[in-house]
Amino acid sequence: MNNYVLQAEDVAIHYGGVKAVDGVSLTLEKGQIRGLIGPNGAGKSTVIDAITGRRRLTRGKVMLGTEDVSALGVVDRRMRGLSRSFQRTSVFGQMSVRKQVELASHKMGVSDSAADADAVLEELDLRPLANVIAEDLGYGEQRRLDLALALVGHPSVLLLDEPMAGLSVQESHDLAHHLTALTSRRDVSVLLVEHDMDVVFGISDVVTVFELGRVIASGAPSDVRADPRVREAYLGSAA
Ligand SMILES: Nc1ncnc2c1ncn2[C@@H]1O[C@H](COP(=O)(O)OP(=O)(O)OP(=O)(O)O)[C@@H](O)[C@H]1O
Ligand SMILES: [Mg+2]
Repeated sequence: MNNYVLQAEDVAIHYGGVKAVDGVSLTLEKGQIRGLIGPNGAGKSTVIDAITGRRRLTRGKVMLGTEDVSALGVVDRRMRGLSRSFQRTSVFGQMSVRKQVELASHKMGVSDSAADADAVLEELDLRPLANVIAEDLGYGEQRRLDLALALVGHPSVLLLDEPMAGLSVQESHDLAHHLTALTSRRDVSVLLVEHDMDVVFGISDVVTVFELGRVIASGAPSDVRADPRVREAYLGSAA
């Protein structure tokens, strides 16, 4: 037995001849943040799609806790606690922030969705914006709403694909702070794909590096940062 919240085993996604992801294994422990980095086209987004069920596996297995969810679709995985954030909030643009979060919680089948929504808004400092129409939010605030929608129903795992993209330095810093707080306060484990190296090395407990659909390094941030293969493949001499 192990106590992994998430375990991807030998996961592969091939698009015809393109081996976008080719035999990746990674784990998440409870409350852990794993940073996932690598050059453009390395397969980071594809592995997130594989874990969430958006893409069918060519090979391998995804375990959520003790359950093999490999054959389940996106919605079934979400209902079991595997969540991701999306970069879109315009679907219900005319609705207030609170209404959107509450509706998302209700759709998850949470019995007290008002309380669930309130707790999530509080967690992300969104309460002052609760009555604002989503369309009227600033970009950084919208991204926090995306995260709020991903957090309803108390997921155990959160997958984030470049959540800092387009944010100001201050907004990135705030979001990083929220992510760290979440892992301890809500017991969420996070897989964080992000190009902002200061953020990744700053808040990750462990870092995994992809190149050409495979893991080339994995471990403590300081070890990964010092790994010659990583420096050569990705970080460059400036890192
Ligand atoms: N639908 C698709 N059909 C064919 N090839 C694809 C498809 N989606 C992605 N790929 C290819 O799979 C590889 C991995 O792409 P992916 O988007 O996962 O990389 P990434 O690490 O997320 O890159 P980035 O840092 O630019 O976001 C790339 O070679 C890409 O061109
Ligand atoms: Mg990507």
